[in-house]
Amino acid sequence: MSVSRRGFLQGLGVGRTAHASAFMAARGHEEYVAEAMEPQGGQGGRPMRPNLPPGVEAIRISSNENPLGPGKAAIDAILGKFPEANRYPFNSTPLDADLEILIAKLNAGKRENVVLGVGSQELLRNAARVFMSPTKHLVIPSPTYGDPAGFAQNALHYTLKSAPVSEKTLKTDLSVLLPLVKGAGLVYLCNPNNPTGLIVPKDEVKALLDGIPKTMPVLIDEAYHHFVDDPRYATSVPAVLEGRPVIIARTFSKIAALAGMRLGYAIAPANMIQQMRPYSMGSINALVKWGGVASLKDAAGQAEVKKKVMDLRKKTAADLEAYGYECLPSETNFFMVAIGREIQPVIQEFAAKKVAVGRPFPPMTKHMRVSVGTADEMARFMTAFKEIFPQKTRNTAAGV
Ligand SMILES: Cc1ncc(COP(=O)(O)O)c(C=O)c1O
Repeated sequence: MSVSRRGFLQGLGVGRTAHASAFMAARGHEEYVAEAMEPQGGQGGRPMRPNLPPGVEAIRISSNENPLGPGKAAIDAILGKFPEANRYPFNSTPLDADLEILIAKLNAGKRENVVLGVGSQELLRNAARVFMSPTKHLVIPSPTYGDPAGFAQNALHYTLKSAPVSEKTLKTDLSVLLPLVKGAGLVYLCNPNNPTGLIVPKDEVKALLDGIPKTMPVLIDEAYHHFVDDPRYATSVPAVLEGRPVIIARTFSKIAALAGMRLGYAIAPANMIQQMRPYSMGSINALVKWGGVASLKDAAGQAEVKKKVMDLRKKTAADLEAYGYECLPSETNFFMVAIGREIQPVIQEFAAKKVAVGRPFPPMTKHMRVSVGTADEMARFMTAFKEIFPQKTRNTAAGV
């Protein structure tokens, strides 16, 4: 995988070297963060969905949702308990503690290592609240999932330092990120990374942890953990169990398809969980707890989702490659395709065809992020793609 230097730097908005300070100066922090935020970002983010004519239903392959919907076990569990929705969650089983214990067991930890969140988003934000300060910045790769950075900057008014991904491989570049850690409050690593879909291999995560002060909090967002096949990847939960100040964020929004119900969790050393817990809402939705338990126990259902989504991702990426457009080797339920021109007008062209695709992710503004939808949706996407883009010979696709 290679990306031409000129194309990448154009994306950065700079003409010379691709490093963090040039990036900030060229684009302005605030603009970058707002652009990078997920649609549900709130707190100063702006909606990034394309504007469709009223009443027009687009296929939604822009937010990395699970198009297959929640599994039957989760739906039955939630609906079966709906009559108890009059009860506050702290009075209703399973107690938050029960779900925390189940999560702890599945991850070889203890209940004291787990906290639940209204989506993992709540916990990512709480980590920023607890571990950052006016003098302790957040370190992020760029591009990456924008919510924690957006919240830190727009709500807390704290500062960020961002490390552009490698311009050659588009991977999170630890050699650029490491020097930014000095004096930080929190380091954020998204693994696999959103929007690239690329993993940070386990030996590189180890090198990061070994290369920073032992007391530096590191937030590792494993939202797409369940989709990864690459043996070079591993969860970083063992670092938590070894007592490193590492917070793992996980979500039920992706593999379990409960995004609209809002449920996530963090796994961290007990003292960090204790620091974060007071910032939580105090309880999660009484019904989603049942869905969460059912999903965790439904290993076969999760394996089926993974297989269907991965098969479709591979097929769509292969179709695009055969048409002449290079795709990044994703390990998630979305992927990026190099389109060779600026993404913003392309989003509108897809919107006109009732296809909602991912927004700009500077500096990779000549890539399009595509979430894997259903087989029908991917077929519609391919038709739209071929109407918008000409066929290319394979060897011209990389020059973006
Ligand atoms: C990397 C990453 N982390 C967290 C989230 C948010 O997850 P949740 O729905 O649990 O708040 C997303 C959503 O797209 C994401 O891409």
